Amino acid sequence: MNMYDAVRITSYLSDNGFISTEAEDDADIIILNTCYIREKASAKIFSELGRLKKLYVNKKKAVPIFAIIGCVAKAESENVFKRAPYVSIVLSSQKYHLLPSFLNKVIKDRNTPTPENKKKKNLHLIDVELSGLEKFDNLTPLKKSDKVAFIQVQEGCDNFCTYCVVPNTRGREVSRSIPSVIDEAKGLCDLGVVEINLLGQNVDSFNGVDENRKPSTLGDLIKRVAILPSVKRIRYTTSYPSKITDDMIELHRTEKKLMPLVYLPIQSGSNEILHKMNRKYTREKYLEIIEKLKSANPSIQISSDFIVGFPTETEEDFEATLDIVRKVKFIQCYAFKYSPRPNTPAAVMEGQIDNKVKADRLRRLQMELRKNQDAFNKSCVGKVMSVLFTEVSKVDTDFVVGKNEYLQPVIVKGDKSLLGTIRDVKITSGSYANLKGEIV
Ligand code: 5AD
Ligand code: SF4
Repeated sequence: MNMYDAVRITSYLSDNGFISTEAEDDADIIILNTCYIREKASAKIFSELGRLKKLYVNKKKAVPIFAIIGCVAKAESENVFKRAPYVSIVLSSQKYHLLPSFLNKVIKDRNTPTPENKKKKNLHLIDVELSGLEKFDNLTPLKKSDKVAFIQVQEGCDNFCTYCVVPNTRGREVSRSIPSVIDEAKGLCDLGVVEINLLGQNVDSFNGVDENRKPSTLGDLIKRVAILPSVKRIRYTTSYPSKITDDMIELHRTEKKLMPLVYLPIQSGSNEILHKMNRKYTREKYLEIIEKLKSANPSIQISSDFIVGFPTETEEDFEATLDIVRKVKFIQCYAFKYSPRPNTPAAVMEGQIDNKVKADRLRRLQMELRKNQDAFNKSCVGKVMSVLFTEVSKVDTDFVVGKNEYLQPVIVKGDKSLLGTIRDVKITSGSYANLKGEIV
């Protein structure tokens, strides 16, 4: 989601005459697009701000205009100015279309050398309202894109998992209209995009209206995107397990452009913990959904997210998580230590788990997850897989790198003429990190 926002922010700015630079010590403006999901991510913003400011002070250069965008901006709001007074702009993730006009105000203020301005403190501009779809009404066509692109189709979340800040930082669920998404998809096709990933915090709850103002499902949306001839692959992220509908499962049987990797965060394998997390499914229900998905399309594989050390998690609860990992054989996962977040119910629950225990469980879980990923990649050897090539290898320019249906990197001998094409590749070797193969 943040990557999508970053692409959009860059596009708004270049439409308004701003030019991006790779040199972090030679910019007039620095924008930090921020994440608040875990403590580590949000703490990083303030240390990063300090580090960047120091670069300029040490080189005796003017401190650039700093803008903080996204979930830290929403959550910390005016506090950002207290902690880092040299920041000029604070915008929530639903207000970044205001960035060009805010920047122009700050630039004008800095360039007006009146006696008052000299004495005046850094101008502080803030808008952290959650205004739903407003930012999408301001989308302008992108001028360039990678072959693989995201489209955000839904914003916010109504699930209120007890550990999660997203409902507070991104607000309530709202869905874009089908015509607005299709317009964006067509624009991406004109730029050569072949794979589209439809994004939403809770994408299965998509209910945007169609041309006749009729509410439509995620399945309806995927069918419309699939009609576009240039789109060869479709993914959707992120699913809330119990909200996957039978129609979506059926679509995995019938829609060949829909990739057979389903990202289905389970968080914990213990029913007790799932209940305390306010996740509205049990491990049994989760396994049932996977069974249905696999019976619709036997090539489906599952990826997931896990949180270890949620308040009151016992060794037995944790064993239930390890057990589900062994049963489902997820092929790619993210695992996190539970991080207490401000204004969430879990942060004040009794039974907070010691960090050492969390770290130990994380290590054990990651070992188990790695075994699955390793075994899956090895099982690919000898198979023919379809690969979308996106870049020349940075290690050896005689090779190109792409992603297979399951998002694993695949390396083959070849040159840049392969980029943007999807080819059948026979896998010749596989390790935890990547697969190697030959074009057939
Ligand atoms: N602590 C740890 N992990 C979290 N996630 C969300 N909130 C927290 C938290 N407070 C994880 C969940 C979610 C992913 C995006 O981040 O696993 O699926
Ligand atoms: Fe957060 Fe996802 Fe739960 Fe929504 S469904 S509250 S985004 S973890």
